[in-house]
Amino acid sequence: MNILAIETSCDETSVAVMQDDKISYLTASQIDVHKLTGGVVPEVAAREHVQVIMPLIEQILKQTNLTGQQLDRIAVTTGPGLITSLMVGVETARTLSYSWHVPLFSINHIEGHIAANFITQPNIEYPAIALVVSGGHTELLFMPKPATYELIGKTRDDAAGECFDKTARILGLAYPGGPEISKLATQGNAAAFHFPRPMLDSGDYSFSFSGLKTAVLYFKRDNPNANLNDICASLQQAIVDVLVKKTMKAIKQYQVKTLLVGGGVAANPLLRQTCRDALQCVSTPVTLCIPALEYCTDNAAMIAAACKLHNEPADLFSVQADPNWELT
Ligand code: KG4
Ligand code: ZN
Repeated sequence: MNILAIETSCDETSVAVMQDDKISYLTASQIDVHKLTGGVVPEVAAREHVQVIMPLIEQILKQTNLTGQQLDRIAVTTGPGLITSLMVGVETARTLSYSWHVPLFSINHIEGHIAANFITQPNIEYPAIALVVSGGHTELLFMPKPATYELIGKTRDDAAGECFDKTARILGLAYPGGPEISKLATQGNAAAFHFPRPMLDSGDYSFSFSGLKTAVLYFKRDNPNANLNDICASLQQAIVDVLVKKTMKAIKQYQVKTLLVGGGVAANPLLRQTCRDALQCVSTPVTLCIPALEYCTDNAAMIAAACKLHNEPADLFSVQADPNWELT
């Protein structure tokens, strides 16, 4: 089966071709453009998508020796995400689907982040818990079987990635903040400062990160000469502690066989290692799946992988971008 996948939900224009199990993808990053404003300006992101999407599609088809007519499916992210960014991908996919007579599949971005794991690990044992941590989302989902999702908790305000990005800005670091903070954290002492662990003992699976951002703001104001590497290490530790503690609670309560982690923050080395370490202490074995680094942040390969979970094409004439599409 030949799938062309398109992902434009935020600030990466990404296209992929999946030929059975072989994946090829191309991503045009807008990071340099958004660095100028310290974050994503939606209209700017949409304009950037428009400029590169067709050249990228032409290039990936050429690279994989396929014509549009040889495709079996076109998969596109229809939500959640930035409406203007999503629309570029969705309208492109609809047009190509109509002109090439190829069925169109509407894919949820969160499901894509979970499915990023299936690119390299196709055999997953269920039930599973999925932890999706990105710039826009922090969610824990229970999956009793493949492609079935029950939301058990999410953030009440900022997402974990958003917390990295906003605190990085407070600290004078470049966008996106996650990679910058995790890089400086390697040189810092995580026990140097104590930042709050919001909702750590709330007894449920809700998260909240906006207070942590405010704590860093006041800390920086009151301690202008504090070591930046130590601040980054201490902050990263606070975020990871909350994410892993709640995830482990869910693993035990739902007695799952697998933990699936996905989203840009899944690239964080401390989160990856802490998940590994925590699963060593569980009485029954739980397999940890975290995507390869290249499939953590937004990419179309994960959208192709998610497309394989579905059999029903979308209605070409009614499908549209849905910025608030909930997976469950
Ligand atoms: O999944 P993604 O590419 O886009 C959304 O769906 O939001 O995630 C982007 C987020 C950004 O907030 C970025 O700072 C964060 O992922 N991120 C990281 C790391 N790499 C990317 N956060 C922490 N540590 C990292 N190494
Ligand atoms: Zn994402």
